[in-house]
Amino acid sequence: MAKDLTQAGTPLPPYFRIDPDAALAELDAPTDTGGFAAIAAACAQGRDDLVSRGKDDSGTRTLRMFSTWEITRYLIPVAQAHFRRVLRANPDLPQGRSETEGGAKWFTLDEVLRLRAHFAAEGSRAKEYRPYRPDGLPAKLVAVANFKGGVGKTSTAAHLAMSAALDGYRVLVVDLDSQGSMTSIFGGKVDDEWGTAFPLLARHYGEHLRAENQRRLDRGDPPQPLDEALTAAMTMTAADVIRPTHWPNIDLIGAQLNLYWAEFQIPVWRMQARGWKLWDALSDRLAADGVLDRYDVVFIDTPPALGYLTINGLAAADILLVPFGASFLEFDSTGRFFDMLHSTFASIEDGENMAARALGRPETAFEWDAVRAVITRYDGAQQGEMSALIQSYLGRTLSPHRQDFTALIGQAGEQVSGIYEADYRDFNRETYARGRETFDQTYAAFKRLLLGIWRKEELALAAESSERAG
Ligand SMILES: Nc1ncnc2c1ncn2[C@@H]1O[C@H](COP(=O)(O)OP(=O)(O)OP(=O)(O)O)[C@@H](O)[C@H]1O
Ligand SMILES: [Mg+2]
Repeated sequence: MAKDLTQAGTPLPPYFRIDPDAALAELDAPTDTGGFAAIAAACAQGRDDLVSRGKDDSGTRTLRMFSTWEITRYLIPVAQAHFRRVLRANPDLPQGRSETEGGAKWFTLDEVLRLRAHFAAEGSRAKEYRPYRPDGLPAKLVAVANFKGGVGKTSTAAHLAMSAALDGYRVLVVDLDSQGSMTSIFGGKVDDEWGTAFPLLARHYGEHLRAENQRRLDRGDPPQPLDEALTAAMTMTAADVIRPTHWPNIDLIGAQLNLYWAEFQIPVWRMQARGWKLWDALSDRLAADGVLDRYDVVFIDTPPALGYLTINGLAAADILLVPFGASFLEFDSTGRFFDMLHSTFASIEDGENMAARALGRPETAFEWDAVRAVITRYDGAQQGEMSALIQSYLGRTLSPHRQDFTALIGQAGEQVSGIYEADYRDFNRETYARGRETFDQTYAAFKRLLLGIWRKEELALAAESSERAG
């Protein structure tokens, strides 16, 4: 067939000369509601196949091993020769396995953590083996949020969780997104909403209702009954929904499609009990169940919406990270997100404080230790000018590190993992080093915030107790 050429001799654009009859011939039957189920089933099959690639025969995910090179380079900063000497001198310590006779030694992360504990106890005081964590202070909660979709919330939260775990912190990840991406990354299998944060929120409401009912009874009014679901939630604690992951020091509260139900249920509860502080539900329950003492850092991944679940995550957070790409549309949308944050939390404060003032109660004021916008998927060749502009408007709110776009994430995506789960031998060394470097820097910028905040609180605590003593 002769090619359609314009007069200038160049091919016609592809949207000209489409034959309606040919188009008709290609068309298939209309999709009815059931069609979505068929498409969903095909996707679910594909997803399960992909996820199972990262799993062993028993269906559980296993974390890769870490080599002596990687350990001494990234995790326990000592010379390789010294590392080997210490292992030889301490036959009780994990000795690692090699794939070939005399080849490099590989260790599980559990073993790395044990080795680190040994170095911290026996090694030079001047070296930093364990990350700073003041005693007597609760875990820090970090929410990663932006109502724009696909900006890198889950990737950022997952990589920060893994970095913090490799650094030696005890990490809890809370997935508040019913899409469950974070849950997939950590291999969680959640059957329904009872395996998610939902029962914690329900219990918080149930506790409120019980207290309210006591007041009703005292007044001689009939109590509001707790329905079956609320009654079931009243016996549940965070321990019931926290599950271990294939990372020895990362636990997960997973998500699943049914969690979306919370977006409908929470406003109904709030209508029934105007005094219920729905935004405190997650943080109150995590604190009440001792979670903040058992972990060092809690990362909360949120859906691309400013719904009730996100509000709960944001209100619980000490540190808020807002990822976005250095493009006009993402910058614009992120600005609107901050605007929505302002109006949402200001309206909660106004509503609460009107009543609080009338009753002479303490006023509600939300506060975050730090809020940082984080540029993700950065392409220095294309976005330098745009990001410099963004920097000039956002000032200190913009995190100093721009997280580079890296092909390693897409590739690692096959096993639904991330850079820290990828075996460096599968990549060109340089590509690996660059990809890892950008996420190490993302973590370093976050860790500076974390340490600064903890240090401030540690000093305040010390000043308080010396005041009490003096
Ligand atoms: N630094 C990066 N380099 C390359 N690709 C990236 C990077 N960060 C994220 N991505 C890719 O961008 C896509 C969106 O990322 P991600 O799922 O983390 O965004 P999200 O904000 O959580 O999305 P959603 O709003 O749907 O929850 C993913 O395909 C991810 O692999
Ligand atoms: Mg996400």
